[in-house]
Amino acid sequence: MTHLTQPTILVTGATGSVGSVLAEQLAFKNIPFRALVRSLDKASNLKQLKCAEIVTGDFNDKQSIVNALAGIEKVFLLSNSSETAESLQCNFVDAVMESNVKHIVKLSQFAADMNSPVRFLRYHAAVEQRIKDTGLQYTFLRPNLFMQGLLGFADPIKYQQQFFSTAGDAKISLVDTRDIAAVALQALVSRDNESKIYNITGPEDLSHNDIAEILSEILEKEIKYINVSDEELKAALLQAGFPSWQAAGLIEDYAHYARGEAAMVSHDVMEVTGKAPGTFTNFVKEYRSAFE
Ligand SMILES: NC(=O)c1ccc[n+]([C@@H]2O[C@H](COP(=O)([O-])OP(=O)(O)OC[C@H]3O[C@@H](n4cnc5c(N)ncnc54)[C@H](OP(=O)(O)O)[C@@H]3O)[C@@H](O)[C@H]2O)c1
Repeated sequence: MTHLTQPTILVTGATGSVGSVLAEQLAFKNIPFRALVRSLDKASNLKQLKCAEIVTGDFNDKQSIVNALAGIEKVFLLSNSSETAESLQCNFVDAVMESNVKHIVKLSQFAADMNSPVRFLRYHAAVEQRIKDTGLQYTFLRPNLFMQGLLGFADPIKYQQQFFSTAGDAKISLVDTRDIAAVALQALVSRDNESKIYNITGPEDLSHNDIAEILSEILEKEIKYINVSDEELKAALLQAGFPSWQAAGLIEDYAHYARGEAAMVSHDVMEVTGKAPGTFTNFVKEYRSAFE
């Protein structure tokens, strides 16, 4: 597609859960953007979007990022949590320093903290610090547990009427990824969000038993939440193909949820977007077909 306006926004992670929704929301608002993908084979949805220019690049290859940043002023930084995520994202920041980018919007995580026992929260805090050290404008988006993560349990919910974790009775203010993307969009298009850190949560704190109750009501059959041990969860994650570093990180993450450290309800989605974040009930109604 030919673009009359040169994009000044680069979206990374554009094939993933949050980045793909952000790309759709930018296109819906006719905002030109460049999407960075590792492989064009995964970019078929992006190719359908007006306003989207697609470039290939990899955080492992700094020069590919420098090339992708030509003419760009604002970037959305996201990659999945892996053993190399911190160095990959810092490599991206190094490439930014060789460009004319003025503002980095980084997808971080609720409660990011350099001293956290949770490895994901430590690496996100380290990348946040690296970005602060550049002196560029920044916006850190710290979302809580994604509602869409429950889609990973669609089969057990559908076929065994159950899902499991180690969260116990703890409440979590889980959030719809569409609200995370909506905050990211505002951070990319307006100057009001510079040097800000946003806690991105849903409108209510729910335990996994509350989640089971809502699923049961909407799907009109009993869905049970099963609290399992760390060892049982780890075995299930490894069997599902998660690398051991990531499986261990998820155990730490769920221990943090179980300690009640992710229950806080923030008003940042409303303040930034002017729209209340979506409820879990609404999420289940909209994704109902995945669970039945
Ligand atoms: N899940 C949760 O509940 C939760 C809660 C809070 C925060 N988070 C944070 O959210 C982030 C994950 O977001 P998500 O679920 O949207 O991710 P995702 O769906 O796993 O997508 C990851 C994206 O990163 C891209 N990527 C991976 N390695 C790359 C590299 N070397 N160079 C360039 N791009 C690369 C992937 O591209 P390919 O398509 O080529 O693989 C993909 O587009 C993590 O940082 C996590 O800590 C998650």
